Amino acid sequence: MSSVLSCRAVGKVFGSGRSRVTALENVCLEIAHGEFVTLVGASGCGKSTLLRTLAGLEQTTSGQIDAAGAPVTGPCTDLGMVFQNYSLYPWLTVMQNIKFPRQLGVHTRDCTSGDVEAASGRADALLHVMGLDNVASAYPSQLSGGMQQRVAIARALMTRPRILLMDEPFGALDVQTREVMHDLILHVCSLEGCTVVFVTHDVEEAIYLGQRVVLMAPRPGRIDSIYGVPLPAVRSQEIKLTPEFRQLRAKILDRIRETSGLRTDLELLHKLSRSNGARDPLL
Ligand SMILES: Nc1ncnc2c1ncn2[C@@H]1O[C@H](COP(=O)(O)OP(=O)(O)O)[C@@H](O)[C@H]1O
Ligand SMILES: [Mg+2]
Repeated sequence: MSSVLSCRAVGKVFGSGRSRVTALENVCLEIAHGEFVTLVGASGCGKSTLLRTLAGLEQTTSGQIDAAGAPVTGPCTDLGMVFQNYSLYPWLTVMQNIKFPRQLGVHTRDCTSGDVEAASGRADALLHVMGLDNVASAYPSQLSGGMQQRVAIARALMTRPRILLMDEPFGALDVQTREVMHDLILHVCSLEGCTVVFVTHDVEEAIYLGQRVVLMAPRPGRIDSIYGVPLPAVRSQEIKLTPEFRQLRAKILDRIRETSGLRTDLELLHKLSRSNGARDPLL
């Protein structure tokens, strides 16, 4: 497997003394070119920290990350990032938001008029593929959450990143909008040929989108297990009803409960409700 993203024994510690938190411990992960990998796990197990470290937004405490053949030492154009809260510039229109990364390039590098023209063509193409043609001159506040996230994705893709990193990008959207976004992101990423690392706390989302699901566990934040997804490459919503999908979902959910101590909590509640003489345990 030729990796486009490689983590070798990555560690990340925040704070010191009593406030010391090992957010990541010995994280080893190889991600192939064009792969769509999803990260799941209980809250606080280090998903966002791993993604931010991959993006070069956090320094590792130990180990090394290589992206597209070079060590990650800070943010770079090979890596695009999409956050849950859209992070759009409210004073810019949709089109201006999408073009913004290129605009920055114009101001910081020598840029020819040909480059600027090519960037315009790219922005038009992204606007079209993301279904935003009709809102090019609208401002973010005039758009629904789903449409705002489409803009954020288009903006992240503007510089043709080889790797797209997404941190719970659809976490704030309703179920129907999410399903539309799932099919859209799969389509766009396969068109663009980019590699994706996608964080979610939703196991169903992780299986539907991912070719592999990486399960992280807390205290210390680490990779617990990795699951191949035995589903056809071309997804459709009906896949969620298949036994393969449901079995994998149950298996991963069970493991998350186990690694996060939730199962122990449930067992405790179970015992308590029995010892209190409840006829039917609540859980
Ligand atoms: N900037 C920070 N300073 C101190 N602790 C942090 C910081 N960012 C994250 N952490 C801690 O690191 C752990 C992992 O956090 P995070 O990566 O946000 O988890 P997740 O995204 O899986 O919910 C948590 O215990 C969190 O409190
Ligand atoms: Mg997080």
